[in-house]
Amino acid sequence: MTLDAVLSRIDSDLPHATERLMELLRIPSISTDPAFADHCQTAADWLVADLQSIGADVEKRPTPGHPMVVGHVEGDGPHLLFYGHYDVQPVDPLELWDRDPFDPQIEDTPAGKVIRGRGSSDDKGQLMTFVEACRAWKAEHGTLPCRITFFFEGEEESGSPSLVPFMQENAAELKSDLALICDTGLFESRVPAIVTMLRGLLGEEITITAPDKDLHSGMYGGVSMNPIRVLTRILASLHDDKGRVTVPGFYDGVPELPDDIRSQWQGLAFDHGKFLGDVGLSEPAGEQDRTPIEMIWSRPTCDVNGIWGGYTGAGFKTVLPSQAHAKVSFRLVGDQDPHVIRESFRQMVRDALPADCEVDFTGHGAGRASVTETTDPAFEAARKALTDEWNIPAAYVGCGGSIPIAGHFQNILGTTPMLVGFGKDDDQIHSPNEKYDMESFHKGIRSWARILDALT
Ligand code: BES
Ligand code: ZN
Repeated sequence: MTLDAVLSRIDSDLPHATERLMELLRIPSISTDPAFADHCQTAADWLVADLQSIGADVEKRPTPGHPMVVGHVEGDGPHLLFYGHYDVQPVDPLELWDRDPFDPQIEDTPAGKVIRGRGSSDDKGQLMTFVEACRAWKAEHGTLPCRITFFFEGEEESGSPSLVPFMQENAAELKSDLALICDTGLFESRVPAIVTMLRGLLGEEITITAPDKDLHSGMYGGVSMNPIRVLTRILASLHDDKGRVTVPGFYDGVPELPDDIRSQWQGLAFDHGKFLGDVGLSEPAGEQDRTPIEMIWSRPTCDVNGIWGGYTGAGFKTVLPSQAHAKVSFRLVGDQDPHVIRESFRQMVRDALPADCEVDFTGHGAGRASVTETTDPAFEAARKALTDEWNIPAAYVGCGGSIPIAGHFQNILGTTPMLVGFGKDDDQIHSPNEKYDMESFHKGIRSWARILDALT
């Protein structure tokens, strides 16, 4: 039996594969909101049943948070593990969606067919590319090509609180020769890519309190401290006028790009004008002495993700608020230590507080950056398989986002992660009207079949 037979079956089964994905997309498995916890269970149950249908020995495994789904198929040859996440981001602002985020549909667009709905790209559509490749393989061959472990998480979008303990407790079961992760994208929405660098992430929420109650700004304005004024001054001081982050010690452990990677990236000829133009921007806004691709893939950042306080409703209220709040995140690279940076950031805020102000901090997750060596011959084999499918030479790239498990595979299990995904820049992941191109889904499934063929 040949790879061609598997690929043909993938082509002819695409309508059914799409229908299965639509079923999974109808389950609102938003991990960060406790109101959706039952739906996370339902999504895990759906995956258990689906993996059973391709012959896996599979269980929903409880954690203190949302369950994991772990399934095994025995076989000869290498032991491959496949990871994806079944949880999705919240849908707000709901009014900016053109349809119900959990009533997915296929749409014809000028650029081709797309599957519209929350999680279509991040990460249910991507997760199903691998499952569908296995289904087609099994249908043609009667078995899968090697020993495969499926490992699906339901907390990725909320910082993976249960992941490290689960991996530690189940290390022997999850340790494998290679971990395949499908949660990234094509380079410039077109070039198949293996991600070798992911940034880490640190989240901090801060609340500054000044007067012990909201005040009338006519009675107290001028004489009373305003916490929004204090907060905005501190936030504005987090970058200097060259775009560098000012938190003391922030750049400790940030490496310069090795020459070979620099020239590899130069060869990619990233079109930052288009990348920014597609979202209504024109000027790179990071560190002035860095190229745009470095800013996204290999330089650390600090961003304010949310800020609130005082009166933000309709009309106007002359209030002098008691509290001001912000959510701040840092993307980390190299050996930057999230815990050291957290302490340094907190100290910087405390040092900047005037009299009569108090600050409270809440930490929201802390994970280091990760880099994957591509010396294992599996990488060149997968690169060739991707090149064959997409008819464009596949590239090794970085990724500005964070996928905590990639580092855990290396550090906890000693298993090398290989990140291959088919998302496009305009998929609007985490945003209203998320979509996954039918091309991503179809060629994604075919890509995994080719990679399985090349690795076994
Ligand atoms: N799939 C994304 C990671 C990603 C982002 C890949 C952008 C390619 C491009 C992943 O699900 C994600 O969003 N991760 C979060 C981290 C998490 C700890 C909240 C992120 O990067 O913000
Ligand atoms: Zn994701």
